[in-house]
Amino acid sequence: MTKTITVIPGDGIGPEVTDATLEVIKAAGAELEYDMQQAGLIALEEQRNPLPQATLDSAEKNRIVLKGPLTTPSGTGFRSINVEMRKAFDLYSNVRPVRTLVPGGRYEDIDLVLIRENTEGLYVGVEHYIGMHGDPRAAAESVMIITRFGAERICRYAFDYARANGRKKVTLAHKANILKYTQGLFLDVGREVAKDYPDIEFEDRIIDATAMQLVLDPYRFDVLVMENMFGDILSDLMAGLIGGLGFAPAGNIGKDAAMFEAVHGSAPDIAGQGIANPTGLLLAAAMLLDHVEQEDVATRIRDAIDTVILARTHRTVDMGGTASTKEFTDALVRALA
Ligand code: NAI
Ligand code: MG
Repeated sequence: MTKTITVIPGDGIGPEVTDATLEVIKAAGAELEYDMQQAGLIALEEQRNPLPQATLDSAEKNRIVLKGPLTTPSGTGFRSINVEMRKAFDLYSNVRPVRTLVPGGRYEDIDLVLIRENTEGLYVGVEHYIGMHGDPRAAAESVMIITRFGAERICRYAFDYARANGRKKVTLAHKANILKYTQGLFLDVGREVAKDYPDIEFEDRIIDATAMQLVLDPYRFDVLVMENMFGDILSDLMAGLIGGLGFAPAGNIGKDAAMFEAVHGSAPDIAGQGIANPTGLLLAAAMLLDHVEQEDVATRIRDAIDTVILARTHRTVDMGGTASTKEFTDALVRALA
């Protein structure tokens, strides 16, 4: 049955990798229709709103979104649209799998999944300046919010994910030794939830030690779960284990809506050059297809990516090749034929 999804190409390399992705998933036989919408800088320029109502309405109606990267100004300017979307649809679980695609990198055969809490922690953005001695910005303060409800549903999600995907172990990474209340609550809840999943091995680790262990010996991990900011940072680290951001997809999953995107940003340094690697968004689209029960199409796409990368002839610049986005995309389409 054909499913209509909202597609937001986004900023920078977004439109380039979105075009490539839609072409490949069509060739793979996806039964999807697209409701194209804007967000981010492009929407600000053309509709004077970085998150137009029409985009929200479309996402509300379709409940499944494929989104390219959006440029977020640092420090000043509008708040992250990504964060706004996650909040608007309560997309509480950020699922970030990383799998080795290009052999011969620092590590072989990496296959890890990070489950990041997506709605709480420091990223609630409760922050303000404190004025002193005539300096209106003498200090700044930010509040980390962890709720039992939020911690429990993300930990459950991690264990359910492990079960559903044949994974053996869940590692909860935290900083409860220093942040005894916020991180302590997250850890306590995780330990409670773990008792309901005796079939899945559970361990907890301090976040900084986890970062080191991920680099030293990533094979000791399987599924990792953590609060928002730790998950943001470690998921980029994990993307580094497999050769960079170009290969990492993310699913933002809620109870009745989901948004799929690449982990990378809008890459303004290479935007418009036609050399971006569309694999991250394409793998996100494969996660989307799994989510809407078109698993066979998703598998075909993943297999085609493996085939083309292993053939070595059409690799993009970030993979050490010379292929343009279009040449790589054409090779994927041929591999699907
Ligand atoms: P970035 O991920 O856009 O770029 C980091 C580096 O990786 C750059 O050298 C870039 O050329 C390279 N790169 C990223 N994606 C690539 C791809 N598909 N193929 C080849 N090379 C690729 O991160 P940066 O520069 O920190 O952020 C740029 C903008 O993107 C910022 O405004 C940021 O806020 C936004 N951003 C948006 C995200 C989203 O919409 N989900 C996620 C991360 C950043
Ligand atoms: Mg990030």
